[in-house]
Amino acid sequence: MKAIILSGGKGTRLRPLTYTGAKQLVPVANKPILWYGIESIVAAGITDIGIIISPETGEEVKAKTGNGDRFGATITYILQDKPAGLAHAVKIAQPFLDDSPFVMYLGDNLVQSDLDLFLEHFRVNNLDALTLLCPVENPSAFGVAEVDENGRLLRLVEKPKVPPSNLALVGVYIFSNIVHGAIASIQPSARGELEITDAIQALIDQGKSVEARQIRGWWLDTGKKDDLLEANRVILDTSCLDSNNLGEVDAQSRIIGRVHIGSGSKIINCTIRGPVMIGDNCHLENCFIGPYTSIADNVRLVEVDLEHSVILQGAKIESIHHRIVDSLIGQRAHLKEATCRPKALRFMIGDDCQIELN
Ligand code: DAU
Repeated sequence: MKAIILSGGKGTRLRPLTYTGAKQLVPVANKPILWYGIESIVAAGITDIGIIISPETGEEVKAKTGNGDRFGATITYILQDKPAGLAHAVKIAQPFLDDSPFVMYLGDNLVQSDLDLFLEHFRVNNLDALTLLCPVENPSAFGVAEVDENGRLLRLVEKPKVPPSNLALVGVYIFSNIVHGAIASIQPSARGELEITDAIQALIDQGKSVEARQIRGWWLDTGKKDDLLEANRVILDTSCLDSNNLGEVDAQSRIIGRVHIGSGSKIINCTIRGPVMIGDNCHLENCFIGPYTSIADNVRLVEVDLEHSVILQGAKIESIHHRIVDSLIGQRAHLKEATCRPKALRFMIGDDCQIELN
């Protein structure tokens, strides 16, 4: 069994953040989203992993993720020259996949369920495709499945205006090598992409053994700011379980609840109420940091009141005298000085922005 992770595409929904960076590298609880997928695949015993990358962000993904050693895996990077669809990504990965069955994982998805049980079901039942489903409130934003009472897939539709059910396709699929023939038989959709949903529909129409299983845990598609903040909240709740201080905290500071402080970080006269994750080499002075906040490496916060937010690497926020909530602040963004006093500020700020509030 091999795996491919799709980490190409354009990432338009997290713009402006993803004008300059790969959306799959945006951190959740200070770890790139992509790495959660890699870890889940390796935990299921699959170590031969291909990562689909784009010309725009591929080098960044490679530099950050490496050859797989840190995960106990071997990673092969596969360049997709344009985002021509999920099935197109499988097509260009065929030389890597060879005749092997494989897991296809969308690099911007966070899925809590273990893959083992689904892999076992795929193997034991000799399936050609197994898709994972999750009930959602807004099925029109996803691929949607119609299934019979035995879990057999009847029909799949990509982002339908009138959804046939509330069961969205989670971004994890398991295929036998038969899928390559199905992909060769489909045409680009109205949006110009080779859709994996069309390939799976072709398998269903050919009478191949295609099934769907509902996942039990949570699933987050991190395509939008609020999804990302929600993913950050859930991961901090489930994985930031202990306090861990590798930095320096002065006597005036109060650390309450589960707070991780990375090495080389200095906390001066701050109150930090967990769960909070603070990376390495940060400087926090005269701040209140509230629950569900992740602060990446090399961030400087001075006189800031912040909660339920994600601050990316190298950002600087100084002397903002009102609470910042529900915000996503890009790498190296710089916010300083506010003299007006609205009740709350809500930001989505891209990498390298400079903002002054007067
Ligand atoms: O998140 C689950 C949904 O993912 C499913 O419900 C849909 O059926 C499926 O089509 C997909 O929809 P999205 O619109 O969310 O796909 P997106 O374009 O965001 O791409 C998903 C991942 O695949 C993302 O990491 C980018 C990558 N990708 C995408 C395309 C179109 C590639 O690597 N190459 C591509 O050509």
